[in-house]
Amino acid sequence: MADQSAPQEMTEVSEAQIAVHWKEEEYFQPAAQLVAQANLNDPRVRERFALEKFPDCFREYAAMLDWFEPYEKVFDGSNAPFWKWFTGGKINAAYNCVDRHLAKYASKPAFIFVPEPETETETRITYQELYTRVNEMAALLRDFCGLRAGDRVTFHLPMTPELPITMLACARLGIIHSQVFGGFSGQACGSRIQDSGSRVLITMDAYWRNGALIDHKQNADIAVQTAKELGQDVDKVLVWQRYPGKYSAPTPMVNGRDYFVNEVLKNYRDKIVEPEKMDSEAPLFLMYTSGTTGKPKGIQHRTGGYLAYVAATSKWVQDIHPDDVYWCMADIGWITGHSYIVYGPLACAATGIIYEGVPTYPDAGRPWRIAEKYRVNIFHTAPTSIRMLRKLGPEEPRKYNYHFKCMTTVGEPIEPEAWRWYYNEVGKKQAAITDTWWQTENGGFLCTTIPALDAMKPGSAGPGAPGIHPVILDENGDEVPAGSTRAGNICIRNPWPGIMQTIWGDPARYVQTYYARYNKNPASKNWRDWPYLAGDGALLAADGYFRILGRIDDVINVAGHRLGTKEIESACLTVPEIAEAAVVPVMDEMKGRVPEVYIALKPGIIASDEIRARVIKANEELIGKIARPKHVYIVPDMPKTRSGKIMRRVLASISNRKEVGDVTTLANPNVVEEIRVMVQGKDAQVTQGEIPEDIAKFGEEK
Ligand code: WT7
Repeated sequence: MADQSAPQEMTEVSEAQIAVHWKEEEYFQPAAQLVAQANLNDPRVRERFALEKFPDCFREYAAMLDWFEPYEKVFDGSNAPFWKWFTGGKINAAYNCVDRHLAKYASKPAFIFVPEPETETETRITYQELYTRVNEMAALLRDFCGLRAGDRVTFHLPMTPELPITMLACARLGIIHSQVFGGFSGQACGSRIQDSGSRVLITMDAYWRNGALIDHKQNADIAVQTAKELGQDVDKVLVWQRYPGKYSAPTPMVNGRDYFVNEVLKNYRDKIVEPEKMDSEAPLFLMYTSGTTGKPKGIQHRTGGYLAYVAATSKWVQDIHPDDVYWCMADIGWITGHSYIVYGPLACAATGIIYEGVPTYPDAGRPWRIAEKYRVNIFHTAPTSIRMLRKLGPEEPRKYNYHFKCMTTVGEPIEPEAWRWYYNEVGKKQAAITDTWWQTENGGFLCTTIPALDAMKPGSAGPGAPGIHPVILDENGDEVPAGSTRAGNICIRNPWPGIMQTIWGDPARYVQTYYARYNKNPASKNWRDWPYLAGDGALLAADGYFRILGRIDDVINVAGHRLGTKEIESACLTVPEIAEAAVVPVMDEMKGRVPEVYIALKPGIIASDEIRARVIKANEELIGKIARPKHVYIVPDMPKTRSGKIMRRVLASISNRKEVGDVTTLANPNVVEEIRVMVQGKDAQVTQGEIPEDIAKFGEEK
């Protein structure tokens, strides 16, 4: 175990740091070829979706779907802020993603599955095959598991086509799916099983990651055990086999509880299950995400509004046509994958790539070989992957003959330098980039340029998407005007069809987290009184483009994924020797931010590498590898205010090599220098430049 407290070599100023004092960037214009064929080329689209047109403008989105029964009302805000969309309408998400395409696209691939090992051949799943497989799986869920509309089912599935097939099978019956990212630990999965009240867990025996066939089944046993300890029994574990007919995990199956899906499926061959005519407002799925407090929130998305929103934004922002080949490199276990690998693209009858593994396996040319081989023309990824691919293979894209018309970036702010590499090298100066800003709670893109209509500006997400009206509010709730150099809290003035319904089982937390900050009258039934608080700091330039600065709450965005500080600190505190733990975000060249942990031991306990190792292990086991702290520092005492509050802001300054400022009012000011020396070495290391908002304000009382 390496010494986790060793002082680090100071590197040059990273791009993440440069990003906070950007200059105004020059514009880039979309290629004529793209404009000529674009789905959305009406320059007046934002007039059509002006605030005065709310909510009727969204009829256009609902019209992109097939309804069993038409809706009566576009929007119902009578129980603000629990909005309802397209009420009275009856619809089925699986029908819209699969059945309705059969007439025209039955033999066109819906998905091309690309396994991580390059020696393994791809699998093409046509819309007809998808239809068959979704129906068979739906029959199994209904008849073998006894599941009905409204029941919840937890998945812990990796990136293979079985994941969207199982999602769509649930959607066909109105069963609410809750997919937990496959990289999360068994414990993390177990607590989400409990929170959602699932009695069925669906998993896979194994999957490839970075050249290794990982035993994933072992996580299911831990998940079931954890859920049971929390009071939720799981009576069936359905295990897909990565290689059907062969069990690829060393962990044994549990008799009477665990079943191989592909074996049970034999009893449902060619079974057809009528799609349930679901209420537009029926929940479609849950997606857990981290917040400020310890417990992850089950974000609940509705059927009609959500599907309309992701279908429309896939069509207009990603410019997906049925004859495009689209590849989103995200994992389906995150909201990006739900909205922009599964529901949105399928609603547009796209052909999508599902890639099993890591983008840099076996080398940094892999994504471009995939793009060339399958003629991918729309590409979607995150800044963290862009930075990684650029670092490992800056000239790799040139070696391959592919052509992208559009590219998306999502998940964290992108530095203009990384953006330009993406544009020049990956996009070969021909692809339009959309920097899409949104969140798990939002269903789909909130700020973005429209590829054929808007100029691109590196580092800026752009204006609101059609029908989305963002505003920057200051501490007092006053608007910060465009062109101001002041940052503030980005909010959305109006509801939209993709917004979450609520937090599963915790409506009070939904109101508190997203609306309480700027609502002045809780009794108001007027949506104008309920600006949605996203939780990000942002700036609005004079041209109407938003530049997102990062989280304003104590959420750490690691490689585009949210981790709650309380979750990490709670994991640390499971190590019995630890008295106190504080986690802070540290700027990282590849991942944007990574967590760094400070711990104080109980009296009489001696600091050791062994304790540090157990802190790391606790995070990996309770949350997942993504939460692995970069360093664990064992400190003599935490810097504290006189009232005993840990000053995380001071620790964040030390970790990020920033001035700590005046600490004389602390209860124990001397410990600050002691900790600084431990982290930075004897001579103070201070990196020049502005402090990113999320770090400067980290740990502040909000
Ligand atoms: C947080 C949401 C749904 C997207 C995947 C992450 C940050 C997201 C951008 C962007 C700057 C971004 C925000 C946001 N974020 N996209 N284009 N530019 N920051 O979803 O896990 O719910 O995280 O990711 O901080 O609040 P998520």
